[in-house]
Amino acid sequence: MTFSRITGTGSYLPANVVSNDELSKIVETSNEWIVERTGIRQRHIAAEGECTSDLALHACRNALAAAGRTPEDVDLIILATSTPDMVFPSSACLLQAKLGVTKGAAFDVQAVCSGFVYALATADLFIKSGAHKCALVVGAEVFSRILDWKDRGTCVLFGDGAGAIVLEASDKPGILASELHADGRHAKILNTPGHVDRGCITGDPTLKMDGQAVFKLAVRVLEQSARSTLAGQGFAVADLDAYIAHQANVRIISFVGKKLGLAEDKCIITVDRHANTSAASIPLALDVAARDGRVKPGHLVLLQGVGGGFTWGSVLLRY
Ligand code: ACO
Repeated sequence: MTFSRITGTGSYLPANVVSNDELSKIVETSNEWIVERTGIRQRHIAAEGECTSDLALHACRNALAAAGRTPEDVDLIILATSTPDMVFPSSACLLQAKLGVTKGAAFDVQAVCSGFVYALATADLFIKSGAHKCALVVGAEVFSRILDWKDRGTCVLFGDGAGAIVLEASDKPGILASELHADGRHAKILNTPGHVDRGCITGDPTLKMDGQAVFKLAVRVLEQSARSTLAGQGFAVADLDAYIAHQANVRIISFVGKKLGLAEDKCIITVDRHANTSAASIPLALDVAARDGRVKPGHLVLLQGVGGGFTWGSVLLRY
């Protein structure tokens, strides 16, 4: 039987770091308010002209190097993003060309902050089917481009970045289980409702959010999905070596961790340094944890995404 396994991780953050104090010069906010409500201390912001596929390119090169692979080995690219370079072609195709990959399939997945979990679950099925052998699964975003920089309720929460993994066919189990969910009835609590129509932007091109509704929904669905994914494989919460939830907010992650009864040192937190990078947040956090030794070969790891749609889901894996 063929399984899929992560053989390398990589990430990339734009050079420009913006602190909470710097934000307090453009909107009425403070470092204290942002840290207390979100845990965020800083975010990276892409340079003018730096696009999702550019950030993804660096992350993929790092992931390929970690896996000991070259672009010639890659036969599938799935890129999760809600901030693509253009309407079409997909950012995955633009990334493919920048990497110099010329074979296999390349496409984008759009599930906002659950995008990476959706992309990983999809790549796992493609590899298990035998159709593809070596995939780059990427989350990359430039959310700074869709923020209203006058709205203190949202602009302090997000950052730009990219994370990637190499997922390969293996006779040893890696991805053990995944479950994906969506409930479009909650589209109103988090959206970017603008659209391109005959050369003009219709609607509002910046992100809108009902923060408290998002908070409540996120905590509820993450706990439910964690429990059902673990139980489906016969594992208990205590069996987990690391828990990597979408990095939206320290309070959401701590809340879910407490409800599950997870030891604090198993919850990987990077939102303090990266802010919310949407689809990039999970592979960014995984790369940090794999490089600093908190995620090691053989570890049981739960990845969880939640975001606009509403969408959510979990991937349980043996690293
Ligand atoms: N600085 C200072 N004050 C602020 C700021 C800010 N940046 N933003 C809002 N406030 C003010 C509000 O105007 C309000 O003032 P008022 O009482 O005078 O009206 C006050 O702070 C309280 O506002 P609330 O929105 O009620 O604050 P809350 O405690 O709910 O915290 C937050 C807001 C942090 C957004 C919280 O609701 C939250 O964490 N929600 C989850 C949202 C999230 O993580 N979204 C990410 C995208 S979704 C995802 O990734 C899953």
